[in-house]
Amino acid sequence: MEIIKTVDLMQQASDTIRMSGESIALVPTMGFLHEGHLMLMRAAKDHCDQLVVSLFVNPTQFGPNEDFEAYPRDTQGDLKKAEDVGADVMFMPSAKEMYPPGAQTSVVVKDLPQHLCGLSRPGHFDGVTTVVAKLFHIVKPHAAVFGQKDYQQLAVISRMVMDLDMDIQIIGVPTVREADGLAMSSRNSYLKPEERISALSLKKSLDLAQRLFREGEKKAQVVKDFVKSYILEHPYTEIDYITLCDPVTLEDVNTLSDGTLMAMAVRVGKTRLIDNGRLVK
Ligand code: PAF
Repeated sequence: MEIIKTVDLMQQASDTIRMSGESIALVPTMGFLHEGHLMLMRAAKDHCDQLVVSLFVNPTQFGPNEDFEAYPRDTQGDLKKAEDVGADVMFMPSAKEMYPPGAQTSVVVKDLPQHLCGLSRPGHFDGVTTVVAKLFHIVKPHAAVFGQKDYQQLAVISRMVMDLDMDIQIIGVPTVREADGLAMSSRNSYLKPEERISALSLKKSLDLAQRLFREGEKKAQVVKDFVKSYILEHPYTEIDYITLCDPVTLEDVNTLSDGTLMAMAVRVGKTRLIDNGRLVK
C-alpha cells in the first residue's frame, strides 16, 4: 500500500491510475478504523480497480466544544488494517496541506443540514461537504463509499454530488453492528462498560419503533414518546433528538408510512451516539 501525504502527489497518482484505464474508489475516513470502515473498503473494492482510503481528522467539522483534540487516533493500526483489506493507497494529509492559510471557499448544502444532527451541530455539515468535495478533487474517484449509519451525511453528500454535477457514484453501505446490536463507531471507544450497556437502548428502541409500526401504530408522536421514555429508562442517557422523518427531505412526518426514517442522537455519559433505521411494513 502506497502512503501519500500531499495533494500534488495524490492527484498525480490518481491521474496515472485513470490514464491506465483503471477505476478508483475512495473511502474517506477519520481513522481509528473498525469493522464498519473495513466493510466500506470491501464494498469499494467490489466496485473499482483501485482503492484509495483517506485518513484525515477534519477540524472544520468539529464545533468549538466538540471532541476534535480527543478524537481517537491510531495511525499505525489504521495503516495495517487498510493494507490487510487490500487498500492500494492511503492518503493522509496534514491539516496544513488540506487547509493552507488564506483558504476562503466552502461547500454548503442549504436545507438538508437544517435537520437532525445539523440542529445541535451548527456548521458540522459545511465542514463535511467542504472536506469531501476537496477529497473528491484530490483523489478523483469514480465511486465513493459512505456508511448508512451517518444517514444524514450520506444524504447531504449525495445532494452535493447531484447539485454540483460531480461525476462520482455514491455508494451507501448498511450499518455494521456489534453482536449485541451497538452500531460500530470510533466513538464507542469512549464508553465506560456501564455506559455501553445503556448504549444498547438505541438499537433496541429502533426495534421497538419497528414493532409498534408493524402492529399498526401510525402516529409519529406516539412512537416518539414511547421510544423516548424507553431510552431514558437507561442510566447515563440524555436525548439530543429522536425524529421520524421523510427519508429524502429529512422533514418530520406526523403519520408513519413504509420507509419512514427514524433517526436519533443520544448522549450516553459524555459520548454522543447516533443510529437510524427505516420502518418496514
Ligand atoms: O464520516 C466521517 O468519518 C467523516 O465525516 C468524513 C466523511 C471522513 C469527512 O471527514
